[in-house]
Amino acid sequence: MAKTNKNYLSGKEIRAIARENKKVMKRLEAEKYRKADESEYLTQMKNNDNILEIDELNTFFFTEQGVVKAVNGVSFDVPQNATVGVVGESGCGKSVTSMSVMRLLQGPTGQIYSGEIRFKSKDKTGEEKVYDIAKMPIADIHKIRGNQIAMIFQEPMTSLNPVFTIGQQLDEVTFIHNPEASKEDAKNKSIEMLNLVGIAMPERVYNSFPHELSGGMRQRVMISMALASDPRLIIADEPTTALDVTIQAQILDLLRDLKDKIDGSIMLITHDLGIIAEMADYVVVMYAGKVIEKGTVEEIFHNPMHPYTIGLQKSKPTLNSDSDTLYNIPGNVPNPINMPTHCYFKERCNKCTAKCSGEYPAMIQVSPTHFVACHLYDEEQ
Ligand SMILES: Nc1ncnc2c1ncn2[C@@H]1O[C@H](COP(=O)(O)OP(=O)(O)OP(=O)(O)O)[C@@H](O)[C@H]1O
Ligand code: SF4
Ligand SMILES: [Mg+2]
Repeated sequence: MAKTNKNYLSGKEIRAIARENKKVMKRLEAEKYRKADESEYLTQMKNNDNILEIDELNTFFFTEQGVVKAVNGVSFDVPQNATVGVVGESGCGKSVTSMSVMRLLQGPTGQIYSGEIRFKSKDKTGEEKVYDIAKMPIADIHKIRGNQIAMIFQEPMTSLNPVFTIGQQLDEVTFIHNPEASKEDAKNKSIEMLNLVGIAMPERVYNSFPHELSGGMRQRVMISMALASDPRLIIADEPTTALDVTIQAQILDLLRDLKDKIDGSIMLITHDLGIIAEMADYVVVMYAGKVIEKGTVEEIFHNPMHPYTIGLQKSKPTLNSDSDTLYNIPGNVPNPINMPTHCYFKERCNKCTAKCSGEYPAMIQVSPTHFVACHLYDEEQ
């Protein structure tokens, strides 16, 4: 008798998935492109000291194989004037979380399915309002995207337009935010921004095309573009991954200085624990679309509790290690389309107990700022 292959979908199953996907995507796209009064997405912060609160966010991709729950019930806060590091291995949902905040998900496949993203916005008159970004129609997103929240991407070459000079692209930012500005005003502002990010010959860079600059210079230009709009929150997604270590250190210094200058907050996404230790005040550890531990940088580095966070710390290269091989966490992340109902780390965990085959562990609070989702700490609840 032929065996059924769990990794194989029949034509009937594929058609059923496509029908279901179409229905949900149509509803979510209609919500995205609806016209809505601001009152529909005005809300309140849970804690007024935060600038961003991500609350039970679910961001899914509706693929032909099934629903990929890339961000699966993620909650964390970014306090004002703080740097929050988001860390986790490749594919755990770091970028999809940031793309959800920026509402840059590629529709109709990628959608915010549910949850809230509360952002404390401040307009030019100084008036503060809290928006639920997840519920904003896409036509209203210009109120915050690219001005109050700016994003710095991993590879600046793909974010800069190769056929325009740096000056043309920087001036454009000024014109978008201030259509009345003269050509001269825009140029002065662009040169000022290039100076601010430590570019020594701003006039030359202003007249250059992106391919004429080094990777570090391009990243500085991207940062200057992000800053041209006076953001309150900068989302930096692996901002130094494409750069060598000395340039990386300069860019991180620059980000730190700028955070103080703009008096804002940074959400810093990286898989590099060294960068987190150096830059972050708070750390969020993600695994397979979920937050598995979060706390202050001291808590996560000096008292990691989740076996995955402990494994991450152990796999960090150190100078005084007496072993000549690096520790690696054995095994792989489960298939994102068929996530188990138990702890997603179970198959790789060396501390697993009978309880771990049961329900997915709840988030347990172990200090006012430290939270962990692991059955080992259930008694501390
Ligand atoms: N367009 C897409 N269609 C289907 N799945 C997607 C799509 N984009 C992302 N995903 C899935 O979403 C999950 C999270 O991806 P994401 O890019 O957020 O990972 P990441 O944590 O940023 O990883 P990295 O460190 O490699 O940048 C992955 O499983 C990925 O395969
Ligand atoms: S819940 Fe169990 S399997 Fe999951 S990380 Fe904790 S000990 Fe390991
Ligand atoms: Mg990423």
